[in-house]
Amino acid sequence: MTVADSKFFAQGNVYVPHIAVIEKIVEETPGVRTYHFNFKDERLRKEFIFESGQFGQYSVLGTGEATFCISSSPTRPDHLEFTVQKVGKVTNALNRLGVGAEIGFRGPYGNSFPLDFLKGKNLVFVGGGIGLAPLRSLIWNIIDNRDIYNKVDIVYGARTPADLCFKYDLEAWDKDKTVNMVTTVDREAEGWKGKIGVVPKILEEVAPPAKDTAAIVCGPPIMIRFTFPVLEKLGFKAEQMLTTLEKKMKCGIGKCGRCNIGNLYVCRDGPVFSYAQIKDFVSSEY
Ligand SMILES: Cc1cc2nc3c(=O)[nH]c(=O)nc-3n(C[C@H](O)[C@H](O)[C@H](O)COP(=O)(O)OP(=O)(O)OC[C@H]3O[C@@H](n4cnc5c(N)ncnc54)[C@H](O)[C@@H]3O)c2cc1C
Ligand code: FES
Repeated sequence: MTVADSKFFAQGNVYVPHIAVIEKIVEETPGVRTYHFNFKDERLRKEFIFESGQFGQYSVLGTGEATFCISSSPTRPDHLEFTVQKVGKVTNALNRLGVGAEIGFRGPYGNSFPLDFLKGKNLVFVGGGIGLAPLRSLIWNIIDNRDIYNKVDIVYGARTPADLCFKYDLEAWDKDKTVNMVTTVDREAEGWKGKIGVVPKILEEVAPPAKDTAAIVCGPPIMIRFTFPVLEKLGFKAEQMLTTLEKKMKCGIGKCGRCNIGNLYVCRDGPVFSYAQIKDFVSSEY
């Protein structure tokens, strides 16, 4: 189901959200939660499809809408997940909801990670903080189709051990013999056994070979800004580096012009872009 599938618009109107129910809430870090949800409409529960990298417009009824990626994998379709950092009006309202509460959902919107391009390649995931949310959808997607991808490296970091999201996934990927999982925190911390140092520095140490490899990067703007030069130093070309951008959105479907960067709309042309597409904006905006 995509934005073009008008038969799936709630009440035939693209701006009317589908009603969904929160089934589970996972406290990831102080201020970050993952919500498991399902649609109320039985047909939608069965027929809804999306791709890793896509996002939705989620609403807290009576408060407003906000944009979040779908952080679960389409290969595990029994429910959907999104992960939220509490920063303002809608995210605080979401934080007050409990299991059983109803939310609105419009989507899935945007493009997705180019699986055809990634097929057969080595993959390097580079994530920071809550930036692991969209990568996580793709990582599980790849693990569930492991034979069609080559080597997988994951370099993920946060400021402190308490700020690491998806600790249960990090543990699972660490145990997975087909994945090289490297976790780091910015500064030494009591009991911490992983790497110490910011993500771009640790990526340079891991030094994945650029040949036949794609790098998929998502994290805070400062991490993204310092990661691309490291990848370039390692021999990656701009076309081999992918990221997913965040920009304040309103419609989510290319109508309102709110989310442009240069001549691109993040909602319609993205949110997944190659570095080649966005390198002129990264230094000024990211
Ligand atoms: C494609 C896409 C995917 C996203 N995925 C996630 C996700 O998985 N998890 C998550 O927690 N957040 C995600 N975001 C960011 C999220 O949309 C905002 O944090 C959210 O809209 C804030 O809503 P609010 O009403 O709580 O904040 P507001 O009250 O509207 O704003 C609070 C503060 O946050 C800033 N802000 C609001 N929206 C954004 C934005 N999009 N980018 C940067 N700053 C913003 C405002 O300028 C303000 O300073 C995504 C954004 C996009 C565009
Ligand atoms: S959010 Fe309206 S055009 Fe992108």
